[in-house]
Amino acid sequence: MESIQLKNIIQGIPKAELHLHIEGSFEPELMFKIAQRNNITLDYDSVASLKKAYKFNNLQEFLDIYYIGAQVLIHEQDFFDLTWAYLIKVHEQNVVHVEVFFDPQTHTDRGIAFETVITGIYKALEKAKSELNISYRLIMSYLRHLSEEEAFKTLESSLPFKDWIHGVGLDSSEVGNPPSKFVNVFKASAAQGYKLVAHAGEEGPADYIWEAIDILNVERIDHGNRCLSDSKLVNRLVEEQMPLTLCPLSNLELKVLENLEDHPVAKMLDKGILATIHSDDPAYFGGYMNENYYETAIALNLNVSQLEQLAANAFEASWLPKEMKEKHIKSVHDYFQSLE
Ligand code: ADE
Ligand code: ZN
Repeated sequence: MESIQLKNIIQGIPKAELHLHIEGSFEPELMFKIAQRNNITLDYDSVASLKKAYKFNNLQEFLDIYYIGAQVLIHEQDFFDLTWAYLIKVHEQNVVHVEVFFDPQTHTDRGIAFETVITGIYKALEKAKSELNISYRLIMSYLRHLSEEEAFKTLESSLPFKDWIHGVGLDSSEVGNPPSKFVNVFKASAAQGYKLVAHAGEEGPADYIWEAIDILNVERIDHGNRCLSDSKLVNRLVEEQMPLTLCPLSNLELKVLENLEDHPVAKMLDKGILATIHSDDPAYFGGYMNENYYETAIALNLNVSQLEQLAANAFEASWLPKEMKEKHIKSVHDYFQSLE
């Protein structure tokens, strides 16, 4: 297939984004603009020099820069602008449903009120719902390099905004911070009505995926790359149709893989795993949804029916009600049929 033809096909697919850290969508241009209006001096003298620093050997090297970038976000308007810029961008890529992570502790630990953070994000999501027809869910992520006690404080701070938050997640430095470290706060979060997901098996072992499923009781795994090393786990993921939200360009940039050709998503589809493709931190990893689909399709020589499966899987894995899932999945199939 011609690359222009493939790009056009991918552009037209109705898409759901389920694995996106809003702080990871912070484009350098917007970062400089917000830094300037908040009188903050960045350590880099231009957008170009900041972008040059975006070379990572592992997850931690990325996280160190990602947390620094987030420090320029101070006011509700900053969180609104960050979120709105992401929504405009993905609307152009025909993304019709988003499930967005935010990291409250990255901000509250700097003295920014939980309310300031969530109100800016929420207002942008609501505006996108009414003006761009993008539906959404909002997921509060606990930082796993911090203690469970600190996660409990975050849970407490979230309660006045419970109606705006659909679930909790677990992100940040994976190795050495297993899901089991957060068993109590995940139980308490579920008791508050929050749905549960966790990053597992990105850099960490397959055991962490087992823990996320069996100890935390998550209903979706973020990444999960490492599951293929454990055939029992693969059987379990297939049996339960437990979704894996994969992020190929992130995996490449964080050296989870050496080459995109080694990405496990095609093997996962072959085995019947409910695998999906997303962008993770698009401003840092060189691509939003379309670019993740495109680069993966080229590297793995995916055919149109694999693209169709990936797009349908994302709606299936979403937290939309059944009728909405069915409506979107039908729109994916109708779209691919219209190409024949
Ligand atoms: N926070 C933002 N992006 C992340 C990733 N890929 N893994 C863990 N934590 C993250
Ligand atoms: Zn992530």
